[in-house]
Amino acid sequence: MTGLSTRQIRSGTSPSRPQNPVTVPIYQTAAYEFESWEAARDIFALRRKDNLYSRTGNPTQIILEERLAALDEGVAALATGSGQSAVAVALLALAKQGEHIVSSNTLYGGTVDLLTDTFRDFGIDSTLVDPADPEAWRAAIRPETRALFAESIGNPTASILDIRALADIAHEAGVPLIIDNTVATPALLRPKEHGADFVVYSATKHLGGHGTSLAGAIVDLGTFDFGAEPHRWPQFTKPYPRVGDVVLWERFGRGGSAFLVYAKTKLVHDLGPALSPYNAHQILLGVETLDIRLARQSSSTAAVVAFLDRHAGASTVHHPRATGSPYAGLADRYLEGTPSILSFDLAAGTEAIPAFVNALEHFTLAANIGDARSLIIHPATTTHSHFDDAQLASAGFSASTLRLSIGLEDPEDLMADLKQAFEFVEAFQRNQKG
Ligand SMILES: Cc1ncc(COP(=O)(O)O)c(C=O)c1O
Repeated sequence: MTGLSTRQIRSGTSPSRPQNPVTVPIYQTAAYEFESWEAARDIFALRRKDNLYSRTGNPTQIILEERLAALDEGVAALATGSGQSAVAVALLALAKQGEHIVSSNTLYGGTVDLLTDTFRDFGIDSTLVDPADPEAWRAAIRPETRALFAESIGNPTASILDIRALADIAHEAGVPLIIDNTVATPALLRPKEHGADFVVYSATKHLGGHGTSLAGAIVDLGTFDFGAEPHRWPQFTKPYPRVGDVVLWERFGRGGSAFLVYAKTKLVHDLGPALSPYNAHQILLGVETLDIRLARQSSSTAAVVAFLDRHAGASTVHHPRATGSPYAGLADRYLEGTPSILSFDLAAGTEAIPAFVNALEHFTLAANIGDARSLIIHPATTTHSHFDDAQLASAGFSASTLRLSIGLEDPEDLMADLKQAFEFVEAFQRNQKG
């Protein structure tokens, strides 16, 4: 028998003898034992597909990637340590110094920072345009543009993107369309059906669904032809020195996702935004219940929107199902369900925001969305605190706007909670005046 220390590390586990578990195991390992010197050489040269090192892949993560690719009917997926890194890696795989990205101006704030600050430091320029104005997208495209980027459902106003119109503009210009499908998820919308080429996710939100873990993903839908104008995409169409000078587009093409092979072997390898096996497992568990969670959140949100629409305490409700929403038609066209985020302006004004927020019992004050718990945030003093009034207005909301993310509680309890908070604010304001 070997010593205790050796047994602590080696007993009871044999990578070559699976334990036939029913659920996906958490393969908590940084590295993998190569069976021979030849195997190590061939795996490093990408001549043989096998586990190499967990920065560029882990068996738990690979199962998540295969599942996410299947949900979006893509050819492959790449999971990363956060949504932020998924967006960064997807864009960096397409645009380098001297090149350009056109994106919507209603993006998640972290993506705006990435495009307008860090990417500009890298020499990658961007133009942010009104997502609902096709001419603005067309006018912003330059010869050095390498991607169009937008969110299928915007945040905090739950605006809906006309993906098909944007895909047509992108393809006329010979560039791919990337959709951030975080809020919709494949349960509400599958961007491939509307002409998108790549999808990115903050899996931290609705895919994970329980607010426990940061994660991100990129899905290659297998639609974009980098070979049509090869001079624009030398990273895929010229010999790639990292892998024996192979031409990624010839070796992997669309079906084998040359795009994600490059993203993984260069960007994830060099920058290191790896997903932990434990977090991959958490997201896999969340994904197992995605459609039933989103169906429940859709119906609860529709009820909350109808309640707020009728309540004098909410002056404007931003949601495609709110009365008079400009997004009702696009929601009918694109969504199988209703976004579970919404925002509304507090009629009592900005001064009443602290009293309203602190009076709530079933809405947790947190900078997140897509949790099993309902959440609330005041964007103007938190997620969008660096926006002035004009920027808030161009993003479609104001200093008195509150964002809700509807969870899985009984909708009646959520509406009763909002009602008592409106009443508390009214009483508070009466007392102050009296
Ligand atoms: C639409 C969207 N994309 C990307 C991100 C970034 O994701 P993460 O927080 O997982 O890094 C977020 C985060 O809120 C988001 O809402």
